[in-house]
This record gives sequence, structure tokens and C-alpha cells, in this order.
Amino acid sequence: MPPETAQLPRHVAIIMDGNGRWAARHGWPRLRGHEEGAESVIAVLRACRERGIRYLTLYAFSAENWRRPRLEIAGLMDLLRRFLRDREAELHEKRIRLRVIGRLQYLPRDVQRELRRVMDETKSYREYHLILALSYGGRAEITDAARTLAQEAREGRLDPARITERTFARALYAPDVPDPDLLIRTSGEIRLSNFLLWQLSYAELYFTPTLWPDFREAEFQRALEEYAHRHRRYGALS
Ligand code: IPE
Ligand code: IPE
Ligand code: MG
Repeated sequence: MPPETAQLPRHVAIIMDGNGRWAARHGWPRLRGHEEGAESVIAVLRACRERGIRYLTLYAFSAENWRRPRLEIAGLMDLLRRFLRDREAELHEKRIRLRVIGRLQYLPRDVQRELRRVMDETKSYREYHLILALSYGGRAEITDAARTLAQEAREGRLDPARITERTFARALYAPDVPDPDLLIRTSGEIRLSNFLLWQLSYAELYFTPTLWPDFREAEFQRALEEYAHRHRRYGALS
């Protein structure tokens, strides 16, 4: 195998951070940073597809991001509408399945409808998955899973004594998706900000000061190269 594919992650998760600071640095409004960030999404999605990385999860809007000014939220939702409209053809062409994790019910109705439609129309694609975390919180996901299991137990369909990590993981938002191998966060913040708390337990973490709008294929390649040199032990000695 060529060195660059020797140790390829199967699933990459990204906390796309730094759009606002990127815009501020150029003296532009924050939304301009989000727009430029959308170009990075396209670049990284293509880079994954070209390298055979099958799962890409992007933290696009957190449960906590609802605390932002209304105008910024509206701008982000608009960007999401545009992204769906402009990228739908590419998803089909490259046979990429769109999925969403998060409390979708809090998004504007028309956005929910468009997301559901594109998810439905791409659901037969099995190989490549683009997973958007929208109105997503890791603790909310774990809480939602606990509620589902509690409900099943109450209805007599689940024996609490038989709940294992696997049973629990099956109640999460995207149970068939393997855990991320590599987590990337841009913009120099060294925290998880409530992202995939369950799934990241053994991920390799990669933090870069590069702001998300500047994170394109070359930067992504650098992260992959660093990942290839990591030694994953999972608690064992080998
Ligand atoms: C990340 O960029 C995008 C979202 C959270 C939606 P930010 O908007 O957080 O940018 P900074 O952190 O303010 O620079
Ligand atoms: C995390 O970034 C959420 C997304 C990238 C969508 P934030 O910018 O919202 O995170 P904090 O507030 O700095 O932790
Ligand atoms: Mg931020």
C-alpha cells in the first residue's frame, strides 16, 4: 500500500470551528466566514470520497448554537438550504448518502422537509456517508437513547438487566455508523463542545490552529498523515 493509504481512518469527524474569527480577520461579517466554511465542507467531502474514507461527520450546528443571535442562526439555516439545493446533484453523482444526527425537530420546517427528502432519496447509497450534526448535543443524544430504552423497558420489550454497551449504542442517532477513528477540530480550541461524547471514546484527536474556512485538502491531508502515525492500543499492550 502507498504510505498515504496505509492507515486510513474509516470515519472522520470534524468540529468545524473558526468561521467567525476568519471573517473578523478579513474585516467581514461573520456570515461571510460561514459561507467560506461551506466551501471547505465541499473540499473535505471530495477529499474523503477520493481517498475512500467512507464516513464523514460534520458538526454544523450544536444544540448550544441556538444561543447565538437570531440573525446569525437565520443565516446559517439559509446556508444549509443553499447547500442542500446546490450539492444534491453531487451527492447523487458520487453516490453519497446524506444523514443527520441531532434534534432535527428544532430546525425550521422547510429545512427539516428538505433534509428528510434528500436523506430519503440518497438512502440506497451504502458506501459513502455524509453525516451532518445539526442541533446536535452529545448529552442530548445520550439522554434520548436512555429515554428510548426506558420506554422499551416499561413496555416489557427490554430487560434492564440485559442492557449492554451494544444495546445502548443501538439506541443512539445513527447506530449503524462505526465510531469515528479521527476527530479533527480547527481554530485552536482544545475541547469537544458536546460533540459525539459516546462515540469518541477511543478516537484519535487532532487539533489545528487553522480556521475552518482555510482548512482545505492540503490541511486535511496533513491530519490524515498524522493519523497514520498514531499507534492505537485500546488499552492493550501491543
Ligand atoms: C463554527 O464557526 C461554525 C459554527 C459554530 C456554526 P464559529 O461561528 O464558531 O466561529 P468562531 O469560533 O466564532 O470563530
Ligand atoms: C462547536 O463550535 C460547534 C460547531 C462547530 C458547530 P462552537 O464555536 O459553537 O463551540 P464553543 O462555543 O467555542 O465551545
Ligand atoms: Mg466557534
